Amino acid sequence: MKGIVFNIFEDFISNTFDLSTYNKVLDESEMSDHVFVGPESYEDSAFLSLVSSAVKISGLDMDVAVKAFGKFSFGKLVTKLSYITDDYDNPTSLLLDLDRIIHVEVRKLYPGAVTPDFSPKLEGDYVILNYTSKRQLCGFLEGLLEGMGEFYKVKVEVDKCSCMKLGEDSCKYKVKIS
Ligand code: HEM
Repeated sequence: MKGIVFNIFEDFISNTFDLSTYNKVLDESEMSDHVFVGPESYEDSAFLSLVSSAVKISGLDMDVAVKAFGKFSFGKLVTKLSYITDDYDNPTSLLLDLDRIIHVEVRKLYPGAVTPDFSPKLEGDYVILNYTSKRQLCGFLEGLLEGMGEFYKVKVEVDKCSCMKLGEDSCKYKVKIS
């Protein structure tokens, strides 16, 4: 996972609680005083360890915490990497370009970034997303969609049709934006 995700996670914990809580999270995961650098790659296990510590310290439910982190992350990503998203004035075209442009630009900027696949398509009023990733971060994805609705000030309705965590090939979503 790229350092930018760790940096946004630090902001998330510091904003939701405070900086001393973030330092406790680092201590709990045995990474005291560790500084993550945006373009660097770190083991996914380091990220999962931070999330587990945060859950332990805050008492939040794991799924609730991961989704809240996704919601927080959308605005941060489009602000930090605004040159990738500035041309998108609506969320439908952003979703349709996730594989073709958005995450391609992310991989160009951060060599070694591992981004998910969505094969997005438009079916009537719905954007269909077929999420596949060995990381199985569907809770994070659902939070990002919520954050996207807030950012663009639109209503985003998400219908989940399948889930990799239940042994299916992908997490399939029907997303309606109005
Ligand atoms: C609602 C729209 C989006 C969705 C649903 C989405 C979904 C995801 C998911 C689920 C991941 C976790 C990695 C994985 O599952 O393998 C991820 C990673 C990432 N995404 Fe997106 N994303 C969205 C928009 C964006 C935007 C707009 C940007 C930046 C302009 C962005 C930049 C990144 C970056 C930097 C990573 C980390 C890659 C790494 O650490 O290797 N995403 N995205």
